[in-house]
Amino acid sequence: MQPVEPDAKLRAEGAAIFAQPDVVASYYARQPYAPDAYAALLRLVPARRRALDLGCGPGPVARRLAEAFDEVVALDPSEGMIAAGRAADRGAHPNIRWVCARAEEFDDEAGFDIVVAGSSVHFVDPAAAFPKLARWTHLMATLANDPLFPHPPPPCGIDRWVDFLGRWNARVGRTTPAGWLGPPDRVKAPAMPHESWVDVAGRKRFRFGFRQSVPDFIASCHARVSWPRRTMGERLAAEFDADLAELLDPFAQSGALTLDVITARRGPRRAAARPRPARAFHRTSGPSKQGRQRDEAKPCGESRIGGAALPVLTGVRSRPTDNLRYYR
Ligand SMILES: C[S@@+](CC[C@H](N)C(=O)[O-])C[C@H]1O[C@@H](n2cnc3c(N)ncnc32)[C@H](O)[C@@H]1O
Repeated sequence: MQPVEPDAKLRAEGAAIFAQPDVVASYYARQPYAPDAYAALLRLVPARRRALDLGCGPGPVARRLAEAFDEVVALDPSEGMIAAGRAADRGAHPNIRWVCARAEEFDDEAGFDIVVAGSSVHFVDPAAAFPKLARWTHLMATLANDPLFPHPPPPCGIDRWVDFLGRWNARVGRTTPAGWLGPPDRVKAPAMPHESWVDVAGRKRFRFGFRQSVPDFIASCHARVSWPRRTMGERLAAEFDADLAELLDPFAQSGALTLDVITARRGPRRAAARPRPARAFHRTSGPSKQGRQRDEAKPCGESRIGGAALPVLTGVRSRPTDNLRYYR
């Protein structure tokens, strides 16, 4: 593998996809994060005054956090995503503050008990964002539903799924990574540029079954960086849809596929540098939902469940470590 530096151009191109109206319209179909992942997150944050949902999209994470925190800042540079988030919430959580901005430009004085980035941290320039994140919080969680992509495959099985992805990657000029056909335990998530800005305190994978219709599964593919309808063009997108429906329709039962969804913190199973010690950082006053003042959240220790690489939680650095190189 070749070590590569963070690629600002790729990052910006990927981020721009989420401003497209067709991607916003398809986003409802993205598979949710495992319910247990939220429960585990909350157990690690005893003080629940303020949370930041970084790169909130239409707000699936913000809405869950808003049930537990006094205030949630839902931050995203896509106007369409922010509008979709407000529409999906329908005012149910007045404690969500929707902010349309890039993380690199956003500022905040009050601090956060936790920052959660759901499938979004790789779109952010770490050198611009992480020094600020380190000031705002000592606890950050990143969530991703495809840490071992293309595993787990939809019910057609891995061989047909990889064959489909390979054909369609070629049709849109993308390269299919070597190794996709390997067994799941051989698939390695690439190290991401932000990894050198955090002390990984733990990782965890959460697995659950999710029922979804074939049309919705197809829509979810169009909400990903590889397959936006507008970028593909209507003719190619229609062909993609027909091909995917032909692949998956035989596996639908009572009109739906049963998908095996894994929610995890994306990244290598790297032994972490020591997490920064927990410290009180919050400068707002007033009781939290638990009636606590200035509680300290403790980063979780390195832990293992069933041999899987474990959680989601990191300490945030104000400068990068120099002992990690990037691969992709
Ligand atoms: C894959 S979506 C994830 C949305 C949501 N967090 C979720 O888990 O479903 C990535 C989101 O990151 C946002 N994003 C891209 N660049 C960003 C930046 N520089 N700062 C903050 N968010 C950004 C995109 O607009 C997009 O809504």
